[in-house]
Amino acid sequence: MDMNMDNRAVLVTGAGNGIGRETALQMAALGAVVGVNDLKEEFVEATVKAITEAGGRAFGVVENVSTQEGIQAAVQRVKAHCGRFDVLVNNAAWVRYQAIPDIRPDTVDRMVDVGFKGVIWGIQAASEAMDTERGGAIINVASTAALRSTLNSVVYSGIKSGVLGITRAAAAELGSQNIRVNAVCPSAVPTEGTQRNRNAERDAARAAKTPLGRLGTVTDIANTICFLASDRAGFMSAQALVVDGGVTFTNL
Ligand SMILES: NC(=O)c1ccc[n+]([C@@H]2O[C@H](COP(=O)([O-])OP(=O)(O)OC[C@H]3O[C@@H](n4cnc5c(N)ncnc54)[C@H](O)[C@@H]3O)[C@@H](O)[C@H]2O)c1
Repeated sequence: MDMNMDNRAVLVTGAGNGIGRETALQMAALGAVVGVNDLKEEFVEATVKAITEAGGRAFGVVENVSTQEGIQAAVQRVKAHCGRFDVLVNNAAWVRYQAIPDIRPDTVDRMVDVGFKGVIWGIQAASEAMDTERGGAIINVASTAALRSTLNSVVYSGIKSGVLGITRAAAAELGSQNIRVNAVCPSAVPTEGTQRNRNAERDAARAAKTPLGRLGTVTDIANTICFLASDRAGFMSAQALVVDGGVTFTNL
């Protein structure tokens, strides 16, 4: 048994950038057929092009996965294209870090719609679409912010903590359908989405506090997501794998 994902039908949400894009690339390299979701056509096209140029199979699924209808449509597009549905990676997020006095209703609504409700609707749509005997795998991208507090992240930490609760509850409910539900908790990883909160000085300070001496990369996170999606993780469910170079549970 290896991490072969041959012919698995996969949907990766928010795969136009960052961790989602790298996950889509890795899944396709392992043999999966990947539905590449994002809000923006140009992001989706760029990821699909990168996958097909590398010899993989992928197609674009432009949908807003923060709504029940949007993610249902995305899952159904994958099922129609592949004739099956095996893996959902709930990765999409819209994130703002705000101090408590600055938290605004519109920001909270958008973050919750994509990062919390979208995960619930995704689990619902995917579990309906999966084969009743073969089952499948759902991987929710949470964060180390669900495990350790930091500044300006009341909303983000709250959502990602909720994602861990959703992961465990869904694993309990869907295990009898052979559906595994797990989460991954990355620490800070340079991506388009985190650019606005990073600079060289902060990155160096973070790396110095990390036992492995560096920040994570999208490859580090995608490796773990692919493992959780594969048969190698066939007896794993309700887990939250922390991929952080050791930074969350140490104090350098
Ligand atoms: N990068 C990090 O440091 C880090 C750390 C911990 C957790 N995470 C989590 O990893 C995931 C990916 O993060 P990233 O940094 O790669 O993000 P990113 O911002 O680089 O990419 C996210 C993508 O999601 C898309 N998206 C947003 N709303 C959407 C919607 N409604 N429907 C479809 N697509 C939508 C965006 O267009 C974007 O392309 C997120 O869940 C994030 O919270 C990231």
